[in-house]
Amino acid sequence: MTQHDRLLIVDFGSQVTQLIARRLRELNVYCEIHPYQNVTDAFLAAFAPRAVIFSGGPDSVTRAGSPRPPQSVYALGVPILGICYGQQVMMQDLGGRVEAGEHATAEFGRAYVEQTGKDDDFLFGWFLEGREQVWMSHGDHVAEIAPGFQVLGTSPGAPFAITADPARRFYAVQFHPEVHHTPNGRTLYENFIRLAGFRGDWTMGAYREEAIAKIRTQVGDGKVICGLSGGVDSSVAAVLIHEAIGDQLTCVFVDHGLLRQNEAAEVVAMFRDHYNIPLIHADESDLFLGALDGVSDPEVKRKTIGKLFIDVFQKHAAEVGGAEFLAQGTLYPDVIESVSFSGGPSVTIKSHHNVGGLPEKMGLKLVEPLRELFKDEVRALGHELGLPASFIGRHPFPGPGLAIRCPGEITREKLEILRKADAVYIDQIRRHGLYDEIWQAFVALLPVRTVGVMGDGRTYDYACALRAVTSVDGMTADYYPFSHDFLSETATRIINEVKGINRVTYDITSKPPGTIEWE
Ligand code: XMP
Repeated sequence: MTQHDRLLIVDFGSQVTQLIARRLRELNVYCEIHPYQNVTDAFLAAFAPRAVIFSGGPDSVTRAGSPRPPQSVYALGVPILGICYGQQVMMQDLGGRVEAGEHATAEFGRAYVEQTGKDDDFLFGWFLEGREQVWMSHGDHVAEIAPGFQVLGTSPGAPFAITADPARRFYAVQFHPEVHHTPNGRTLYENFIRLAGFRGDWTMGAYREEAIAKIRTQVGDGKVICGLSGGVDSSVAAVLIHEAIGDQLTCVFVDHGLLRQNEAAEVVAMFRDHYNIPLIHADESDLFLGALDGVSDPEVKRKTIGKLFIDVFQKHAAEVGGAEFLAQGTLYPDVIESVSFSGGPSVTIKSHHNVGGLPEKMGLKLVEPLRELFKDEVRALGHELGLPASFIGRHPFPGPGLAIRCPGEITREKLEILRKADAVYIDQIRRHGLYDEIWQAFVALLPVRTVGVMGDGRTYDYACALRAVTSVDGMTADYYPFSHDFLSETATRIINEVKGINRVTYDITSKPPGTIEWE
């Protein structure tokens, strides 16, 4: 376990629990989220948190059998912050009273909290303007606060919006300080971790040193193979592991013929030439495109690619000979997802392509040096390791590549058209300085031809759709509000520069109800 000061987030199933962790990590505090069921007396003793946060959650503490932490948490002598459902848990556990929600007392959305009490430790930097905007989302409400607590802030719908027992350093708020709609929320977290005595020792420089030591201990003089996709996560993992064990690492880059313009060359140049990392460049485009010939169903495409990827990776990995370990760029959100309170998604919307089946199939042990990190931390680590900024900031690219941006049947001709259009579009976005504001942008080539007129002639070519979204984690997304000038300039460039496209549309669907990719 890490040597850093640790904060424990007990997850009661809120949709925004991950945001609490992100806010804390931004403040250089190491924290972990654990579902309340796993937080036992023994767990608490072993974890030895310096502070605890109770997340929000969908249940009602007035219901018998509703989620609770072990009562020993209150005897640890460490500060506790309860948020929303977490506040109600604290009040109920410590002798207050919570009432089940009625329509009249439920409160959702923006609210304003007025100061009613004083606590310089917790409220430092708050109420400078007399009141604070916060985000509420609760059905139940606290009817009576627990003995020892006082009210520091109140809103029309939540008389006990901020409560505190400064002697025990227990704090409880009805709103969500972790969301953007509580603009000054970060300050409350800052105050909480300061009063808990955190040193702010969670930095990427420290993480790098520790991760390298850990990899060396785990791997010894064994061999590691790593599947490189050219994405940020696997690249950062590879560079970190290479720094730890040098040529004991071999990377396998499977080129399935569904990459963007120049992508394969860039990845190979960076890893083999720049970093000198042993790299097998497996050009398997004939195999993949052959298997996809005539396939138009999105799920069949995804499954075909996923299965072939595993076969091909396995074939080339065998060339390395005697590898015992497989490196993966698994991130903390993936880890949380697999143990989360509410479980993973209940319906399969898309079969995500990954190499999850590999370790068991190949009898390999996993090396996952990014397991504790969020995406933005991986980028910071990449920076620390000296990866070029242009590479670190690249938009995510899905494993099945252009196959899922070419709805319907895929042909080499269509892929070529798509690559060119995509390159023009991304160039436009970069030229206008918008690349870093956008989570992901790409072109989808539509399986329709439309009639146009260019010069004096008739054209009958493909239509394409531009996609650009903002998002925090890819789970939800909004389309990006380009200016009309940008859109018309881009459409003109694509039609002029890309033979085969004569019509450009802009996709203004958010997620949900759409998804980011087209298939
Ligand atoms: P959707 O289309 O589901 O995409 O809204 C959400 C995010 O996930 C990426 N994506 C994938 N990434 N393998 C991946 O590694 C996949 O099979 C896959 N499918 C979608 C997508 O690009 C977006 O960032």
